[in-house]
Amino acid sequence: MTPEQFRQYGHQLIDLIADYRQTVAERPVMAQVQPGYLKAALPDAAPLQGEPFEAIVQDVERLLMPGLSHWQHPDFYGYFPSNGTLSSVLGDFLSTGLGVLGLSWQSSPALSELEETTLDWLRQLLGLSSQWSGVIQDTASTSTLVALICARERSTDYALVRGGLQAQAKPLIVYVSAHAHSSVDKAALLAGFGRDNIRLIATDEQFAMRPEALREAIAQDLAAGNQPCAVVATTGTTATTALDPLRPIGEIAQAHQLWLHVDSAMAGSAMILPECRWMWDGIELADSVVVNAHKWLGVAFDCSIYYVRDPQHLIRVMSTNPSYLQSAVDGEVKNLRDWGIPLGRRFRALKLWFMLRCEGVEALQQRLRRDLDNARWLAEQVEAAEGWELLAPVQLQTLCIRHRPQGLQEDALDAHTRGWAERLNASGDAYVTPATLQGRWMVRVSVGALPTERGDVERLWARLQAIVAR
Ligand SMILES: Cc1ncc(COP(=O)(O)O)c(C=O)c1O
Repeated sequence: MTPEQFRQYGHQLIDLIADYRQTVAERPVMAQVQPGYLKAALPDAAPLQGEPFEAIVQDVERLLMPGLSHWQHPDFYGYFPSNGTLSSVLGDFLSTGLGVLGLSWQSSPALSELEETTLDWLRQLLGLSSQWSGVIQDTASTSTLVALICARERSTDYALVRGGLQAQAKPLIVYVSAHAHSSVDKAALLAGFGRDNIRLIATDEQFAMRPEALREAIAQDLAAGNQPCAVVATTGTTATTALDPLRPIGEIAQAHQLWLHVDSAMAGSAMILPECRWMWDGIELADSVVVNAHKWLGVAFDCSIYYVRDPQHLIRVMSTNPSYLQSAVDGEVKNLRDWGIPLGRRFRALKLWFMLRCEGVEALQQRLRRDLDNARWLAEQVEAAEGWELLAPVQLQTLCIRHRPQGLQEDALDAHTRGWAERLNASGDAYVTPATLQGRWMVRVSVGALPTERGDVERLWARLQAIVAR
């Protein structure tokens, strides 16, 4: 493709995206296709000769669109929102178009310095002190893996340059809440801790980690000759948006010199609202924190922000320094390859920069407040309605709900819950996520897609009532 063709087709593609966003509400939210539908429709091998661009665009509409569940749809209430503001989409587009890589500061100085600057802007917006430095990772899963590797290395005084974990005399222990995201479990396993050394700490009636249970578990491990290493606390758990109490957890972690990593993948966005900052009171006691700017905040996927208090430790664990990457200014600059696992780095900061500059902080705050209000309104309806129940406090924008028809046996409740959620999703009218809580099925309704307004939430409530009546 020549630059001239790119210009022509690029305009066409921008039109396609703009039209898609303007009309997405007319599409069924959840894809209505069967497994294998696309593979059956595509050729078995790549074309030997290039095809007209128009043919590809036609296939996007004809073949791909029916196989998409639409995350930017006003009736999307699934998982957690993954909002791609159009301003950040343009930043992402530019990043790909420029095609530069940040292997070192010198390989694209603007890439490194824009990342440093935008993450410092975001740090201030989140109310974090100037003790924190940030880097963009792809996902929270990676950020948490990096955190646990750093925890491991701090506890073992850099065993990685000796015999590694395999030469440790005592097993290292990680403490997580029973409601931590599966990525935390995965990170602990991949960092080499081993299933036997992950302690699931009990939670209270609001599904938040109980500090006294953490204290007891650490004492038991010490008595057994194990080495406590790290605690992962969550601000906004996936099932219920529960808030682990960071201050008492942080105090326990500090008393035992444990690494405290805070998974704020979802709720971190809410910290741009001063009225929500109580949710991570004690955050300054942590060693690392992850905030997914690609969730509710609105930066197009992927943009997971990892903040640390001791970047020198991170660099010591992650750095590589082959001759072909060295430059004369290495002593004066940040080489972000030393801040995480991959060597290659996209110009991801562009999409955050575009979004912050085009939208402005006040509009972002207003949108998040809108969503919090809408979730509260829906919670009030659920609480007041006969046969409906809220299963967890609505601290943010996600509700955990269940419908309990009169006279239904307890053991038939799961089938009823899954049944109506599946019917609703299959209808294409709205998308919600069934999940288990304390061994029983419930339905998560996560408000906060970009175009979702009060009228949409009112329509959802009417649909929920209608679907359970069927
Ligand atoms: C609390 C929490 N942590 C971590 C993750 C994983 O996020 P990612 O997809 O960025 O790895 C999620 C995903 O929803 C989450 O809710």
